[in-house]
Amino acid sequence: MSAAAAVPIRERAGKTFDVERIREDFPILRMKVHGHPLVYLDNAATSQKPQTVIDALVRYYEGENANIHRGVHYLSQIATEEFEKARETVRAFVNAAQASEIVFARGTTEAINLVAQTYGRAHVGAGDEVLITAMEHHSNIVPWQLLCEEKGAKLRVAPINDEGELLVEEFEKLLGPKTKVAAVAHVSNALGTINPLQKMIAMAHRRGVPVVVDGAQAVPHLAVDVQGLDADFYAFSGHKMYGPTGIGVLYGKQALLEAMPPYQGGGDMISSVTFEKTTYNKVPHKFEAGTPDMAGVAGLKAAIEYMNGVGIGKIAAHEHDLLEYATGVVGQLPGVKLIGTAREKASVLSFVVEDVHPHDIGTILDQEGIAVRTGHHCAQPVMERFGIPATVRASFAVYNTKSEIDALARGIRKVHEVFA
Ligand SMILES: Cc1ncc(COP(=O)(O)O)c(C=O)c1O
Repeated sequence: MSAAAAVPIRERAGKTFDVERIREDFPILRMKVHGHPLVYLDNAATSQKPQTVIDALVRYYEGENANIHRGVHYLSQIATEEFEKARETVRAFVNAAQASEIVFARGTTEAINLVAQTYGRAHVGAGDEVLITAMEHHSNIVPWQLLCEEKGAKLRVAPINDEGELLVEEFEKLLGPKTKVAAVAHVSNALGTINPLQKMIAMAHRRGVPVVVDGAQAVPHLAVDVQGLDADFYAFSGHKMYGPTGIGVLYGKQALLEAMPPYQGGGDMISSVTFEKTTYNKVPHKFEAGTPDMAGVAGLKAAIEYMNGVGIGKIAAHEHDLLEYATGVVGQLPGVKLIGTAREKASVLSFVVEDVHPHDIGTILDQEGIAVRTGHHCAQPVMERFGIPATVRASFAVYNTKSEIDALARGIRKVHEVFA
């Protein structure tokens, strides 16, 4: 596999990377909030959109809109062509073998639910086990809990250490004869930890266990190669990678997708319907019931083209510089404790400040125009693991700058003054 599939790229952002030039691509960054320039550090929740993505949405509605796969008329054919071209763009982006392995979904959450409700329901039975990790987002916990409840199966959880790294040997020990599926985050949204995914997948495969990867926080920051990783399923959301909301992707190996029962029933997923029997369309259409988000797909294609234009290596290198800088600057402030200090991290700085609730910090930072996320980040078990109710999370994207991190540090000093 390419090394890029498992580790963040360590190339330097370099001279050709001009963050001020990049910032011009994102109209929202010109905004002022409470009289201050917007400092947007909530990218792990959702990233901002470049003009090219916004234009792609408008272009779709102005010049392409028609329902796909069904019409013989001009617009329907154009819309269908563009939709399938976008599938090919996504295929190349994650290096899937075939475009038919790319299923469009609403986002990571729907993609994981799809696998749990199809592959999971077909393969997990009473007494079986589903293995996850202690750093999962609720989207990669609850769908498996629902499945386990329905089937009388057991959810097993591989633990993490105080740095927020997975105990890989424990993960391996938990892969037993009863394990029917493993579902793991590529990158933790609450801690920033990058998991040694290639190694974990190889461990699972040695025991015949397929692996579902939650790639929501990886795809915006790392070059992902699903074939190199040998992932069985890989889910991600468009809106965290400069694309529109409401569109995401499930990658699945062709043979697995073909063998799976459908998820939802409706238009487009069928081959023929009678009252006695319905036969299903071929993959990926079998999993795309109803009218899809065609505009969203056009926007996702534009987002991938934007990322490719900048270069995923340059994005990763710039964000790595920002994370190192922020770890130094914020980590040294009095009373600040970083939560998540793994050796391999991507773009997330989670922290608490002694004697101040994260929500108060978020509110004071907001008054300075700084947007961070405070709370449990849909990862309550992670908070429990660290014995805290919440953290402040600053998360970085291609358009963030070191001076924004300095503004964050000034904001935290202000928090100290208010609570002194
Ligand atoms: C790691 C991780 N998984 C899943 C999700 C859910 O993504 P979505 O809400 O786009 O479905 C998120 C969103 O924050 C996430 O960070």
